[in-house]
Amino acid sequence: FVVDWNPGAAEKGGYDHFMMKEMVEQPKAMMEALLSRCCENSESFGELKLNAAMMENINRIQIVACGTAFHAGMVGKYYFEKFARISVETEAASEYRYKNPIVDENTLLIVISQSGETADTLAAIRLAKECGAWVLAVTNVVGSSIAREADDVIYTNAGPEIAVASTKAYVTQIGCMMLLAAYMGRLNGKLKEADSTRIFRNLMMTPGLIEKVLDTKETIKAFADKNYRINDLFYIGRGLDLYTCMEGSLKLKEISYIHSESYAAGELKHGPLALIEEGTIVIAVCTQENVFEKMLSNIKEVKARGAHVLAIVQEAHRDIASEVDEVWVIPEMDDDITAIPTIVYLQLLAYYLAVARGCDVDKPKNLAKSVTVE
Ligand code: G6P
Repeated sequence: FVVDWNPGAAEKGGYDHFMMKEMVEQPKAMMEALLSRCCENSESFGELKLNAAMMENINRIQIVACGTAFHAGMVGKYYFEKFARISVETEAASEYRYKNPIVDENTLLIVISQSGETADTLAAIRLAKECGAWVLAVTNVVGSSIAREADDVIYTNAGPEIAVASTKAYVTQIGCMMLLAAYMGRLNGKLKEADSTRIFRNLMMTPGLIEKVLDTKETIKAFADKNYRINDLFYIGRGLDLYTCMEGSLKLKEISYIHSESYAAGELKHGPLALIEEGTIVIAVCTQENVFEKMLSNIKEVKARGAHVLAIVQEAHRDIASEVDEVWVIPEMDDDITAIPTIVYLQLLAYYLAVARGCDVDKPKNLAKSVTVE
């Protein structure tokens, strides 16, 4: 009797790649991230030294990060402005550190980093601290350099992430940013208790919602197997969906080496429309009700130039099928949390396109998991 034992496959939980293992782990990672922040159906940040009195002196919030974490920072800005009505600037760490940023003792700098070791993010922390800012780090790695140098730390608790392309860390970063924004909104009185409870309850539904998207793997694989020879892919969206597009486009570039652009749909007519030709695939992310009709007009614009459009919508808009070539549906949910299940579609798409093209999914050329040098 011979046991067919492959330690490599065992490490990957039986999957072909760490990236697939980590995508599949997202419901669990999200649950861990939320449960560690939960107290009586609401968010709790008992570990923070930053308190309501200190917050009164804060008149500027900056979010700084790199890569995927930067996109979580864009989503975070959206939540801070919506729930706490605080204006926030989000910037790539490599930009922030060299542009003489306005930062002082009344600034709260929030940095996001999966590894906690990214050189540019670490440099941003040092610069801000020298100017007297309070630094709060959102990271996945306990005891990392960023965790040690920040004044306050929130751990995302996603578990170890091995694949270069970040997946489960991203959804937990978004979850943490949403809770943190709700917490700040309660501290400054802009968010009602009931609304923060609603936000928490909505977030608690995301593990199940991610699961639903993971269940559609075969559909996404079939799409990828049919289209893997493409040279370009365009993502368009508005509001929160724009950040999902940016992250989806990054995932695609990282692992499949397909050129792609993510664009604010309203900006199409200011340039990228010129690149759309017969058969160009355009992914239109349309999960935000307040701009749904606007997205429909943008879809018509690209359809008129011959684009092949794949739309991602909430269940209630399934009938968009009559306007587009393909539809992927997420269940009905609060518009604020759609970024979490929707990105899973785009992660899977990038993954299956990369696999179909024979790419080394876990170790893409020229890229590293942790960028500890400039
Ligand atoms: C590298 C990784 C990305 C990651 C980025 C920021 O580029 O390949 O997946 O998003 O660094 O890393 P951090 O660890 O700071 O989140």
